[in-house]
Amino acid sequence: MPLVTTTEMFRKAYDGGYAVGAFNVNNMEIVQGITEAAREQHAPLILQVSKGARAYANHTYLVKLVEAAVIECPDIPIALHLDHGPDFETCKSCIDGGFTSVMIDASSKPFAENIEITRKVVEYAHDHGVVVEAELGSLAGVEDEVNVSAEDSSYTRPEEVEEFVSKTGCDSLAIAIGTSHGAYKFTAAQCTRNEQGILVPPPLRFDILEEVSRRLPGFPIVLHGSSSVPQDFVKMINENGGKMPDAVGIPEEQLRKAATLSVCKINIDSDLRLAMTGSIRKYFADHPEHFDPRQYLTPARANIKAIVTHKLIDVLGCAGKA
Ligand code: G3H
Ligand code: 13P
Ligand code: ZN
Repeated sequence: MPLVTTTEMFRKAYDGGYAVGAFNVNNMEIVQGITEAAREQHAPLILQVSKGARAYANHTYLVKLVEAAVIECPDIPIALHLDHGPDFETCKSCIDGGFTSVMIDASSKPFAENIEITRKVVEYAHDHGVVVEAELGSLAGVEDEVNVSAEDSSYTRPEEVEEFVSKTGCDSLAIAIGTSHGAYKFTAAQCTRNEQGILVPPPLRFDILEEVSRRLPGFPIVLHGSSSVPQDFVKMINENGGKMPDAVGIPEEQLRKAATLSVCKINIDSDLRLAMTGSIRKYFADHPEHFDPRQYLTPARANIKAIVTHKLIDVLGCAGKA
């Protein structure tokens, strides 16, 4: 089947109590690792591309890689989504260039300005058969061009969501309930430590999610910053020349719970980066004489496939739902 929008995926996910995984893609091995997992697990899939990914790999290369994946995976629905579109022009370029979904991230702007920019993107996108994700509230962390400190991050205010959705016409809404971008989601001071000395982060604000869902019944909610930063990958990196002390993510059981509620899309990027980097570092440490990229990218791609398979089955609950 051709690339699809997220409309049908989200309707089924909402009703079925699961979420669709949105994984960031930057090169061929990442696209292959993710899509091989989704094909095997018969899971709906969102492949997302950030502004940084377009700058790194080039828009056309990424679209063609995703189109190749669509040919290789004829039995699962795949959407191609712009992650954190910073402005109308970037969204328009992706809409014109074959994406089926875009995010306009004007969450750092004042409420009225966020509405105005989002509505403009929605009008153009809907005229072209493309759906739009918007964001209210801001997550801490670093994402392309957006660098939000913990002090400047803010939870979504549930009392704003109805007005925002009705005035913008957006198709899904990313909210801030305590997730954040990157591999260092919380400072040690924000966490407690378990018996093994591993940081345990503060729980997500399910009260905010529930109030948002009460105000927007049936409406798909999106969670960004939802990597769990598996400690075995952090260990693999640190044991093979890396230095990632106190990297910490969102516990998977909290994401599983969110997926059973109104959260229909869960964004995961950092965990794939950790899988790839850990695997390559280990490969180089084990085989210092090797220099053919295919040698170290083969286990890296396999490790991406393994982590995505785990997410589809155990976290998102979307295996078998294609
Ligand atoms: O939310 C950000 C994603 O992890 C994409 O990261 O902007 O470095 O490509 P990037
Ligand atoms: P992570 O950094 O937690 O993987 O979040 C990715 C994301 O939100 C992409 O938009
Ligand atoms: Zn994000």
